[in-house]
Amino acid sequence: MSHYNRFKEDHFLGRLRTLSGRVLELGFGDADTLFYYDPGTDVVAIEKNRKWVDRAAKRLTDGGIGHVKVMEGSAEKLPFRDNEFDFVTSSFMLCSVGSQPAAIAEMFRVLKPGGRYVALEHTLSKNGLFRGLQKILAKPVSKIADNCHLNSDPLAVIGLQPFRVLKAEYFPYYLEPPLYIEAEKPAGQKH
Ligand SMILES: C[S@@+](CC[C@H](N)C(=O)[O-])C[C@H]1O[C@@H](n2cnc3c(N)ncnc32)[C@H](O)[C@@H]1O
Repeated sequence: MSHYNRFKEDHFLGRLRTLSGRVLELGFGDADTLFYYDPGTDVVAIEKNRKWVDRAAKRLTDGGIGHVKVMEGSAEKLPFRDNEFDFVTSSFMLCSVGSQPAAIAEMFRVLKPGGRYVALEHTLSKNGLFRGLQKILAKPVSKIADNCHLNSDPLAVIGLQPFRVLKAEYFPYYLEPPLYIEAEKPAGQKH
């Protein structure tokens, strides 16, 4: 296994296996992550692209997975009440949403006080050369890569809400260095 995949497995996929309670995953794409949740969890997963929703529904049915439900929808306008989820998760999704501030505000709203946002998202490189390239290439690449922005800065946008960042672990990887993030909605913080 490559160092990159080891980082993803150890930091994000392994963590998905340990989650409990009610979980919301955003932007699941090919749905591989949906197979990591414990059968004791109650997972709902939202994806804006209908094609991926239909594909995931079939994969879950074929795999006999009953604890994960998939829905078409948008991270920026979640069809849930305030304070409903124990965890919100995402991987490589924030970079391509239409409005990062709106998506983060919605995640914060639907999390219970004490609930956590658990994510693997790519971030700005710590290497000056790669960071410069991320900024220059962000716009043209977004036009050919389904709105994925190389200059995404997840911690900056998470900071727009009163989240408490518990973990931010960086893996140096060219133009898309992943950042493993755990951020808590403080206990006692109602929306
Ligand atoms: C780069 S893919 C990542 C897919 C998967 N999470 C993974 O790690 O491989 C980004 C996904 O986010 C979805 N997406 C983008 N904007 C979204 C939004 N506003 N609401 C929900 N899903 C969105 C895209 O359709 C796509 O499936």
